[in-house]
Formats: sequence, C-alpha cells, structure tokens
Amino acid sequence: MKALVLAGGSGTRLRPITHTSAKQLVPVANKPVLFYGLESIAAAGIVEVGVVVGDTQAEIEAAVGDGSAFGLEVTYLRQEAPLGLAHAVLIARDYLGEDDFVMYLGDNFIVGGITSLVDRFRAERAAAQIMLTKVSDPRQFGVAELDAAGRVIGLEEKPARPRSDLALVGVYMFTPVVHDVVRELKPSARGELEITDAIQRLIDLGHPVDSVVISGYWKDTGNVTDMLEVNRLVLESVERRLDGDVDAGSELIGRVVVEAGAQVSGSRIVGPVVIGPGTTVRDSYIGPFTSVAAGCSIADSEIEYSIVLPRASIAGVGRIEASLIGHDVEVTPAPPTPRAHRLVLGDHSKVQISP
Ligand code: G1P
Repeated sequence: MKALVLAGGSGTRLRPITHTSAKQLVPVANKPVLFYGLESIAAAGIVEVGVVVGDTQAEIEAAVGDGSAFGLEVTYLRQEAPLGLAHAVLIARDYLGEDDFVMYLGDNFIVGGITSLVDRFRAERAAAQIMLTKVSDPRQFGVAELDAAGRVIGLEEKPARPRSDLALVGVYMFTPVVHDVVRELKPSARGELEITDAIQRLIDLGHPVDSVVISGYWKDTGNVTDMLEVNRLVLESVERRLDGDVDAGSELIGRVVVEAGAQVSGSRIVGPVVIGPGTTVRDSYIGPFTSVAAGCSIADSEIEYSIVLPRASIAGVGRIEASLIGHDVEVTPAPPTPRAHRLVLGDHSKVQISP
C-alpha cells in the first residue's frame, strides 16, 4: 500500500499566515500539521509516499526532504495548478501503479492517527473507504448522505443545502479501480476534478464504498478559534521536558517543554506550554495551551492560549489571549502620547483592540 499526500493549494482560508507559508506547514504545538499526517502514515506501516506539490514545492521539500526522518520514501509529484483532489490522483497514476493507496490531505489533522482505519481497509478492501465526521458548518466540506443501515448513498461537494452534518474527512482509501472513474471525470462548477464525484461514481457503478465516522478531526476552515483548539488538543498530551536554561527566579508548573537553546528567566510558565529552541522568555507569564515557536522573544508580557510563530517578539504589552501571532511579528507598547494605536498590518490581518 502507498500513500498520496496532498501538499499543494494556496491556503486562502488561513490568511495572512499563508501569505508567507504553505498551509500544510502551519504549526500545531510547534510542529507542522503535515508532519502529524506523515507520522500517522508511517505508523500505519506505509513506506512509499507520493507528495503532490504546487507553488510551495520548495518550502515543502525543504521541510520534508526525502522522508527518511519519518521512516518514509518520499517522491515529489508536481501538480501544475490546483485542479482538484481527483486531478492529483490522475497525475499520480503512474506512481501509484496497481497499489491500493491512502490519500491524505496535508492540511487535515486526525487525532489518534489512521492505523485502525488502514487496518480496516486492508481487511475489508472496499473500492473506497471514506471517513466522516460531524461538523457545525457542512457547507465548507464534502457531505455524505447515509441510508438507515449507514451505507453511503450520496455525496455532494460544498452543498448550499447539506443533506446531513457528516463531512468528508480528508483521508480516503482506494483500490486501483478508482483510476477508471477518475479518468472519466469532468471539472465541477468550481473548475476542479472532485474526488467526491469520483466516489459518487463508484457508488453509482455498484462498487462497495465503506464509511467510518470518526471524532477528533480538524481542518483549516479559516478561523483562528479552530487552530487554537487543535493546538490545545495536541498540547494536552505533551510531556514535561526541560532542555533549555531556566533560571532560579522562574517557576514552571506542570507539562512544560523548554527546547534546547531556549532561555527562561524571572518568569512563570503554567503548562501545557511548549517553548521553541532559541526562544527567550524574560519577566513574563506564559499560560496554559500556548505554543511559542523557535527564535522568539517574550519580555515583560503575559500570554495565554495562543500560538506564536518563529522569530516573533512581544515586549511590554500586558496580557495577550487567544491570539495567533505570525513569523517575525513585533508587538510593542505605543508611546504614552498621543494615545493612539499604531498598526502595520499585512493584507488579510485581523486585529481586536481593547479601547
Ligand atoms: C476537500 C474536499 C472535501 C473535504 C475536504 C476535507 O475540500 O473537496 O470534500 O471535505 O477537502 O479537508 P477543499 O479542501 O478542497 O476545500
């Protein structure tokens, strides 16, 4: 069995973070979301992985390399334009050969991995096995309709009037029969070859399509609230580890990770929290469910339930909560007069100010 990991696309839903970074590399607990997917694939016993890349190919390749760090053999497959998930299967036809495969969308996060799902597929070997999960706004997903016995009877991509609240999760398993239907697909209204249409076609042709309803699922549906929530979930399971320097004037409570090269002085950190390599935390409070990436600087400030991306600096600004702070961002106090906010905000930024 092989894996096909999709790591193209433009990430409009996570702007402005994705103006400067591939959406699959957005970090959850200081690790790119894509890495959790690759680790789950390796854990399920799959070694050969085709990674489909687009405009952000260089960045993805720099992060994933040849896959050996994950115990994988990675082959990069270039998709010239984001023409749909089924288009990715089409261009991967030769790479996939006659193998069964799992298609994994690199911006999806599945709590608990995919091993049991892969095991089920290996045992049952339906033409397709899809994962479904209940979501609050199904209009942003592919949506499945089940009959009374739980069989999938219909699938619709991003319906205006969803027939259920069961969304297609971005992990699909296929036998090679899928190639026959993918070859025949026509572009959808949004101009893409939809994998949803391919699976519907398999159903129409009478092939067995299996479904599993799972919980513990996240994808980048565009709000920071969701990202902070998945970050919280992952931080829930970190173990305390102090590899950096912590001075005697600091107090670290609970599950706190301080990576090598990080320096903590005169500060109080209440876990779960991860502090990235080379980051300094001085005279500050860091509260639960906060991830601070590498090379950041936090001084004379308080921050809780937030994500801070590499090289950001926060100094002397009081308390920050429920925030996502991008690469190389600087947050500083304004001079006392005139009393005014001074903002340099990139395109698509979102700011909430306490008057
Ligand atoms: C794609 C699929 C959709 C699925 C979703 C899961 O949507 O088309 O059916 O529910 O992935 O991540 P897209 O990310 O292309 O909007």
